[in-house]
Amino acid sequence: MDFKIAVLKGDGIGPEIVNEAIKVLDKIGEKFGHKFNYEQGYLGGESIDKFGKPLTDETVELCKNSDAVLLGAVGGPKWDVIDPAIRPEKGLLGIRKALELYTNLRPAILYNALKDASPLKPEIIGDGLDMMVIRELTGGLYFGKKELTKDYAYDTMYYTRGEIERIVKKGFEIARLRSKKLTSVEKANVLDSSKLWKEVAIEMGKDYPDVELIHMYADNAAMQLVINPRQFDTIVTENTFGDILSDEASMLTGSIGMLPSASLGDGKVGLYEPIHGSAPDIAGKGIANPIATILSVAMMLRYSFNLTEEADTIEKAVEAVLNEGYRTGDIYSEGTKKVGTVEMGELIKERL
Ligand code: NAI
Ligand code: MG
Repeated sequence: MDFKIAVLKGDGIGPEIVNEAIKVLDKIGEKFGHKFNYEQGYLGGESIDKFGKPLTDETVELCKNSDAVLLGAVGGPKWDVIDPAIRPEKGLLGIRKALELYTNLRPAILYNALKDASPLKPEIIGDGLDMMVIRELTGGLYFGKKELTKDYAYDTMYYTRGEIERIVKKGFEIARLRSKKLTSVEKANVLDSSKLWKEVAIEMGKDYPDVELIHMYADNAAMQLVINPRQFDTIVTENTFGDILSDEASMLTGSIGMLPSASLGDGKVGLYEPIHGSAPDIAGKGIANPIATILSVAMMLRYSFNLTEEADTIEKAVEAVLNEGYRTGDIYSEGTKKVGTVEMGELIKERL
C-alpha cells in the first residue's frame, strides 16, 4: 500500500530524531511491501524563521491531505524572547485543533532492560510495566467557560454526552486491542461532569462485554499508579486528570527519551510525536535518543494504517537492541554500550 505522511521535523533535536524514524519506516516498507511518501511541512520555530508564524495554512492543508502526521518537537530559547502570540508551542496547539484531535494516547512502557531507570522499587515493577493512558484532549477545564478578574476566577469542567461517548468508545476499542481491561477514571463522588462520565461509561460497557470495566476516582488512581501500577492496562479519562496521570505514568518508566504518543480524532489523520520536547541542551550533538520517535512511528502503523504486524516488528526490534545492551546517553548505565542517535537508529533498523 501507498501512504502519504506529512513530516514536521520542528526544532532542536526534532530533525535528528525524525530522520532515524524515517529510516526505520523505509526499511519496514521494503520488508512488507509498502511505499511511504513524505512531504515536509514546517512547525514551530522553524516556521517562525521562514514565514513569521509558527503554523501556516499551507502546513495545515498539507497535514489535512495526508494519511498521518509525524512530528519531531518544537521550541527553544531562540524563540522565547519573541511575542507570545507567535511562540512555537502555538503551532502545536494550532495543528492539533485544525485536525480535531480529541484523543491523546500515551503508552507508558518500562522495558525489562531499563528497570533501573524507574523510580519504583523492583518488587513493584515486577517484570515490567505496559499501560496506555488515554486522555481527552479538547474539552473540560482547558476549554470550558472561564473568567479571570482581580477578585475571583473560574474554569468550568464542561462535557457533553457526545464528547464523553466518543472518547470512552476509543477507550473500549483500544482496550480491546490490548488486554481487554479498561479503567475509567473520574471523580463521580464530587463532580457532576464525572457523574455523567461514569454513567456513559457504564452504558457503553454493555456494547463491550468482552472488556472488563473498572471505575476509579482520580485521586485513588494517582496513588494506585505508584503502589500497584501493574493493575492497569488501559486508562481513559478527561483532559485535566489525563494531563496529570499521563505525566505521572510516564515518569514511572524514568526515561523521557523512550515514550511515544498519538493524537487521534474521527478524521483519517492522526498525529504522532515523542512526548519529550526539542531538548535544546543536546541539539546538534548527535546524542538524542530516537526511540520515542521510532515508537511513535510504530503507533502510526498500528492506529492510522492498521498495520499491526509491522508495528509489532518495530517494537520488538527496539526491545532487542535494548536487551543487547545498547543505550543512548539518557538511558545509559554502567556496563552498557553507549551509542549516538544515528547508531541507535541503524541498530533498530538492522534488527527489523
Ligand atoms: P525537553 O523534553 O525538551 O527536555 C527535558 C530534558 O530531557 C533535557 O535535559 C533534554 O536534554 C532531555 N531529553 C528530552 N528528549 C530527549 C531525547 N530524545 N534524548 C535524550 N534526552 C532527551 O523539555 P524542556 O527542556 O522543558 O523543553 C525544551 C523546549 O521544548 C522548550 O522550548 C519547550 O517549550 C519545548 N517542548 C516542546 C514539546 C513538543 O514539541 N511537543 C513538548 C515539551 C517541551
Ligand atoms: Mg503535561
